[in-house]
Amino acid sequence: MARLRVGVLISGRGSNLQALIEAAADPDFPAEIVLVVANQGDAGGLAHAKASGIRTETINHRAFNAKQGFEASIDATLRGARIDLVCLAGFMRILSSWFVERWRDRLINIHPSLLPAFKGLDTHERVLASGTRFSGCTVHFVRPDVDDGPTIVQAVVPVMPGDSQETLAARVLAAEHRCYPLAVRLIAEGRVQIRDERVDIVGAMPPAEVMMFNPVG
Ligand code: GRF
Repeated sequence: MARLRVGVLISGRGSNLQALIEAAADPDFPAEIVLVVANQGDAGGLAHAKASGIRTETINHRAFNAKQGFEASIDATLRGARIDLVCLAGFMRILSSWFVERWRDRLINIHPSLLPAFKGLDTHERVLASGTRFSGCTVHFVRPDVDDGPTIVQAVVPVMPGDSQETLAARVLAAEHRCYPLAVRLIAEGRVQIRDERVDIVGAMPPAEVMMFNPVG
């Protein structure tokens, strides 16, 4: 069966991109990464793509007077590559509703919190300041509001005593690297259905019942 054609949009180091590339290196993975677009030429993730022979494009937002031109260029590049699914992976530009609606239900994002909690930037700092016992990450369909949209996959990690932003971010990032390939796989397998702005995963085994209780003790 044809593999889902995935395009990844990045701005920075691209560790989630790398996790997707590694997952897709398995011929049984039902999706392939065919295009990586960065909005700045120094995005570290471009090297990951090039090392794997994946086509890269840099579309610098600063080269355009208006957001519409920048987004139209990304849109044309994705369509030219016959992309089925767009993954935002540390893409640091807010996309307009024009772009989001053009890719509705074919555009997903990863965010380093358990959405809908802690939307926006400086997530780990705010999680630590809040005193919450757990954090995590979310892969979700993109809607025009920032960090909003139906949740596809989440993972929970504990907030540990003595955590810094860096230690918490590293724990969450390890979870991100498992969640993003899983979300792409579920979509590529046709197992993700959106109903009333909520995701049903079709044909998945129910997880074992677990409880994670107060990691701080
Ligand atoms: C990740 O924490 C992701 O959740 C957020 O931006 C970060 C990107 O990291 N949206 P990387 O570029 O994938 O390493």
